[in-house]
Amino acid sequence: MSRLRQLTVLLCWQCSLGRHGAGFQPLPSGGAVVKIYAPHATQVSIVGSWNGWMPDSLVNLSDGWWELNISSEPTRDYLFQIGAAYKIFLVSEDGRSYWRPDPWSRLQDGTTLGNSLTYFDEKFQWTDANWSMPHWDTLVIYELHVGSFCAYEGWTGTATLDMCIPKLEHLVELGINAVELLPVAEFDGTVDWGYTTAYPFAVEVSYGGQDAFKRFVNACHQKGLAVLLDVVYNHLGPMDLPLWQFDGWSNGTGLGGIYFYNDHRAETPWAHTRPNYGVPDVRRFFVDNALFWLDTMHCDGLRVDGVSFIRLWGGSETNRSAGTFNPEGELFLKELSAAVRKTGKMLIAEDLQGNMSLTEELPKGLGFNSQWDGRFHWTLLKNLRQPDAWRNMSDLQQAILADLGGGVRRTIYAESHDEAGRFRLPLAISGRRDSWVGSRLSALATALVMLSPGIPLIFQGQEFALQELFSAHQPMDWSQLASHRGTFKLHQDLVALRRVQGLGSGTGVNVTADETNKILTLHRWKENWPSSTSAPSAPSARSVFAIFNFQRRALVNFDVTFPKGVDWNLALNTADARYYNMATVFHEEDQGPGAFTPIESPQAGSTGTFIHPYSCKIYTGNLIKGI
Ligand SMILES: *[C@@H]1O[C@H](CO)[C@@H](O)[C@H](O)[C@H]1NC(C)=O
Ligand SMILES: *[C@@H]1O[C@H](CO)[C@@H](O)[C@H](O)[C@H]1NC(C)=O
Ligand SMILES: *[C@@H]1O[C@H](CO)[C@@H](O)[C@H](O)[C@H]1NC(C)=O
Ligand SMILES: *[C@@H]1O[C@H](CO)[C@@H](O)[C@H](O)[C@H]1NC(C)=O
Ligand SMILES: *[C@@H]1O[C@H](CO)[C@@H](O)[C@H](O)[C@H]1NC(C)=O
Ligand SMILES: *[C@@H]1O[C@H](CO)[C@@H](O)[C@H](O)[C@H]1NC(C)=O
Ligand SMILES: *[C@@H]1O[C@H](CO)[C@@H](O)[C@H](O)[C@H]1NC(C)=O
Ligand SMILES: *[C@@H]1O[C@H](CO)[C@@H](O)[C@H](O)[C@H]1NC(C)=O
Repeated sequence: MSRLRQLTVLLCWQCSLGRHGAGFQPLPSGGAVVKIYAPHATQVSIVGSWNGWMPDSLVNLSDGWWELNISSEPTRDYLFQIGAAYKIFLVSEDGRSYWRPDPWSRLQDGTTLGNSLTYFDEKFQWTDANWSMPHWDTLVIYELHVGSFCAYEGWTGTATLDMCIPKLEHLVELGINAVELLPVAEFDGTVDWGYTTAYPFAVEVSYGGQDAFKRFVNACHQKGLAVLLDVVYNHLGPMDLPLWQFDGWSNGTGLGGIYFYNDHRAETPWAHTRPNYGVPDVRRFFVDNALFWLDTMHCDGLRVDGVSFIRLWGGSETNRSAGTFNPEGELFLKELSAAVRKTGKMLIAEDLQGNMSLTEELPKGLGFNSQWDGRFHWTLLKNLRQPDAWRNMSDLQQAILADLGGGVRRTIYAESHDEAGRFRLPLAISGRRDSWVGSRLSALATALVMLSPGIPLIFQGQEFALQELFSAHQPMDWSQLASHRGTFKLHQDLVALRRVQGLGSGTGVNVTADETNKILTLHRWKENWPSSTSAPSAPSARSVFAIFNFQRRALVNFDVTFPKGVDWNLALNTADARYYNMATVFHEEDQGPGAFTPIESPQAGSTGTFIHPYSCKIYTGNLIKGI
């Protein structure tokens, strides 16, 4: 198909349907359009409850697509609006017949390979017309998993999106301004992290389906929270996958057929289901999916899972540099970011290779707005989990400074769903529950995340030192919040400090590393200050100077050189008594001199600073005029 032709077809779907994707699409004016991609079928029909499950044939459009216009008829239109069951019936080249759910299904009847249900977008009343995304420089993201985060105390099943709405109060209290959901697209089964997408356009039925998702996004917007969604385009399924050999064809390989690679490129660490990015209709399927979440479902941005598994095939999960470049995958990523760019919404990559091309502008770069920084995370983890003497300050310094292009171009975190399934930070650091050391060093981790260049991200439970592993099968233990109020208060104060200081783009950074004393200093300032203080992203942008003590020993009368020309005032001390948790246990070996010393009065200048063990003092200040 010529490029022009392709474009005409795509534009036509958009104009005739006013929505993204294909499959069964009820029209606001009545009737419906059915459009199915099945290049190797000899017959394609739709069968539904509205016509007594009798096949209505689609017309061969000759470009791999089949189409049927269903005319408006009051009784039928009504059924389309309330959710009528249907399937696609296909006959393959070898004469076999297949009953398939709709690849663009918006709602499944509860069993993943069961019937698709018609869904009518126009019935939902959005009330977020006045919503606008906060300036990206000011974002603080909270990553959560619907099934476990939104559970109540004592709840035993998978939570729903409606159960998340009362939980938003907690997030508002914490002070974050964006939530990032683990994937919610319909997956195999009812309880999962969500990375086994079966229907990219459907919302998981156990989470409440399409309307519940819209109610959730609407509620977030009313509370001032942006919604980012994790989407999985590097593989699908593998279980209960309607796209698998959709029209019966797999080129004789027994692999996935028209939507997938049918050779070694199909292999991923999770399943042999890597989409065939070489086929324009397949790329379009996923680009439409991205636009669907952003446009139809009002999301503010997407976090694209495992981008390095799209750019590259082969190589192991842990060594992506052993993979082989896939130009088709790269083409897909560029089409994806070009389409998202037009919406003005945010595109974040989980690539984890520290490759700056990801956020470079199209057409040279891949055009993403931000990417997860694995190096920052791993360096932090490694250094926190070691004995004092082994902690490497210059290693941390390098990880902070390697900001992947600066500003919002990287997203940084101390905990995320991936590691939290194996260990939670406070417990991993000390090996003991609620230890003073684990709690103190975890606080340093959050402080570093909040003060370093990049968009900070908190993983569910981190804000109250949760030690239980993250599991889709284990509702989050909210009772821990009461016994860890100190950690919650600390996170509140750090998030507030981050947001008030406006440490986003255009902010300078300087880090010094003192290997002997295990001290790190971090200086942030607004470049071109003070003229930029009027920028909406940073209402009161000031300079920030933080001193981190990564050892058990208190530093008494420590000689710190404060940056000159700023009237420094102590804004936060992570050792402050208000940040202690009731639950904290002082193991004998945890006792350090000065552990309970009340904070001393703020000091400016270059002499006599007292820094508690495993703690961080954060100073803020305005530039002193005339210096
Ligand atoms: C559909 O149309 C294309 C192009 O005209 C043709 O090659 C193909 O054989 C047709 N398929 C069937 C089943 O008629
Ligand atoms: C469906 O309707 C559209 C718009 O009127 C038209 O362009 C298209 O050819 C029709 N498709 C079929 C298969 O009749
Ligand atoms: C949006 O803002 C306008 C002007 O402030 C106000 O009149 C209107 O009621 C708001 N709409 C909603 C849905 O909140
Ligand atoms: C089908 O398999 C043959 C033989 O391996 C291969 O040459 C051809 O490119 C394949 N076709 C498609 C569309 O994958
Ligand atoms: C990763 O793979 C590359 C290429 O095969 C190899 O040179 C490198 O040593 C590997 N790195 C690790 C850490 O295994
Ligand atoms: C970084 O990613 C770009 C885009 O996919 C690729 O061309 C380049 O080779 C990658 N660089 C490295 C060092 O892997
Ligand atoms: C600290 O890490 C750096 C790399 O960032 C390395 O060059 C240096 O040797 C390490 N220092 C110690 C004491 O391990
Ligand atoms: C960074 O800090 C060091 C140590 O205080 C200082 O010598 C250097 O001038 C600072 N650099 C910048 C760019 O502020």
